[in-house]
Amino acid sequence: MKRVLFVFGTRPEAIKMAPLVNVFKKDSDFETKLCVSAQHREMLDQTLNFFNLQPDFDLNIMESNQDLFSITSKILLALKDILKDFKPHLILVHGDTTTALSGALAGFYEKVPIAHIEAGLRTHNLASPYPEEANRQMIDTLTNYYFVPTNDSKNNLLLEGKKEKNICISGNTVIDALFLTLNLIKSNQNLEQKIKKDLSLYYPLNPQRKFILVTAHRRENFGEGLIQICEALKQIAYNNPQIDIVYPTHPNPNVQKTTKSLLTDTPNIFLIPPLNYEYFVYLMSHCYFIMTDSGGIQEEAPSLRKPILLMRNNTERPEALEAGVVKLVGTHIQSITKEAQNLLDNPKDYQAMSHSINPYGDGKACERIVDFIKNFQRDKE
Ligand code: UD1
Ligand code: UDP
Repeated sequence: MKRVLFVFGTRPEAIKMAPLVNVFKKDSDFETKLCVSAQHREMLDQTLNFFNLQPDFDLNIMESNQDLFSITSKILLALKDILKDFKPHLILVHGDTTTALSGALAGFYEKVPIAHIEAGLRTHNLASPYPEEANRQMIDTLTNYYFVPTNDSKNNLLLEGKKEKNICISGNTVIDALFLTLNLIKSNQNLEQKIKKDLSLYYPLNPQRKFILVTAHRRENFGEGLIQICEALKQIAYNNPQIDIVYPTHPNPNVQKTTKSLLTDTPNIFLIPPLNYEYFVYLMSHCYFIMTDSGGIQEEAPSLRKPILLMRNNTERPEALEAGVVKLVGTHIQSITKEAQNLLDNPKDYQAMSHSINPYGDGKACERIVDFIKNFQRDKE
C-alpha cells in the first residue's frame, strides 16, 4: 500500500481536490492523508464540510492580511515534521497557490515525488497573475507527474522540455466537483429549498429580475484595478435599474475595504459574504452572466452556458476565450461597462457567448488521475 499525502489550503484548491481525495480514500491500494495549511480558514472549512472531508493535519496558518513570506515559511517548516513522520510515497498539490508551492518545495527537500494537479497553465507573465504564474512555473519544475486539463497545457510543458510519458491529460477536477454538486442539488429538493431560503437572507432571488454574478479578488487588481472594477459595477447598476448585481465578496481586507466603501449605497448591488460552494453553483446556474477575475469560475461557467466577462488583462486559460464563451475585458471602467452593456442589450451577442462547451473536462478527471498513478507505479515495480 502506497502512502499519499494531499496538501492544500485555499477554497479553490479544496473544491478541486475534494473529489480526488474522496476517490483516493476509497481505494485500498493507498493510505491517503490530508494536510491542510488553512491558508484560508472559513472559506476552506465551508468547502471541507460540504465535501465531508476531515483533515489529518491542520497547520492552521491563516492570519489577517497575511503576506507571502509568512504563508510560505510557516507551511514549509510545519511540513518538515509531517513528511518525516508519515513518509509519503507521493505528495499531491494543486494549481498555483502559495500552499501548493510550499507543498511541492517541502516534497522536493524531502525527496518525495510530486504530482501536480492542474499543471501546465501559463501566461508567461510573472506579474500577472501575481504570484500565481511564478508559483505554477516553480511547481512544475519540481513535479514528477503532471495532470493537465487540456492539450494546450500539455504543449506548454512539452515546450519546456518536460517528458511526455510523465504528462496525463486528465481534464480539470473542477468539472467533477461541479457535476457532483449540480446532481446533488437536482436530486435533492430539500437542498434546493434550503439554498433558496438561506440565500434570501442576502439576496431575494426573484425570477422576474435578471442578475449579474460578480467576483473579484486578485492581488494584482488591488488598489486601482479593483477601484475601476467597482466604479464600472456602479455605472452598470445605475444605467440598468432593471437588473441586479450580486457580488459575494472575498474576506481579504483589501477587497472588503474597497468594495464596502464604493458599492454599499447602490440599491441594485448586493454585496454578500463568500458562499458555500453549493450556493455559489446555484447562483452561477441562475444568473444572466458572470463578471469575474477568478481562475476557477472561467472553467465552470462554460459548462453552465453562462458568458463570462473576465476582468483581467490576460489569462492562463485561453481555451474558453478561443471558444468564444469568455471575453477578456481588462480592468478599465470604459471597457468593462461597454462589454457588459453590450451583453445586456444585444441578445445575438449574448446567445453567441452562451453555448455549452467543456474545454476543461467531462467530470472524469479524478478517475484518470488515479488510473495514471496506478499504472505508473505498476510499470516501475
Ligand atoms: C489565495 C491565492 C490565490 C487564489 C485565492 C482564492 C496565493 C498567493 N493566492 O489568494 O491564488 O486565487 O486564494 O480565493 O496563494 N481571508 C479570511 N478568511 C478566509 C480566507 C481569507 O479572512 O477564509 C483573508 C485573510 O485576511 C487573509 C486574506 O484574506 O490574510 C488573504 O488570503 P490569501 O490566501 O493570502 O490570499 P487570497 O487573495 O485569498
Ligand atoms: N466560489 C464559491 N463561493 C464563492 C465564490 C466562488 O464556492 O462565494 C467557488 C467557485 O465556484 C470556484 C472557486 O470558488 O470553484 C473559485 O475560487 P476563487 O475565485 O476564490 O479562486 P481562483 O479560482 O481565482 O483561484
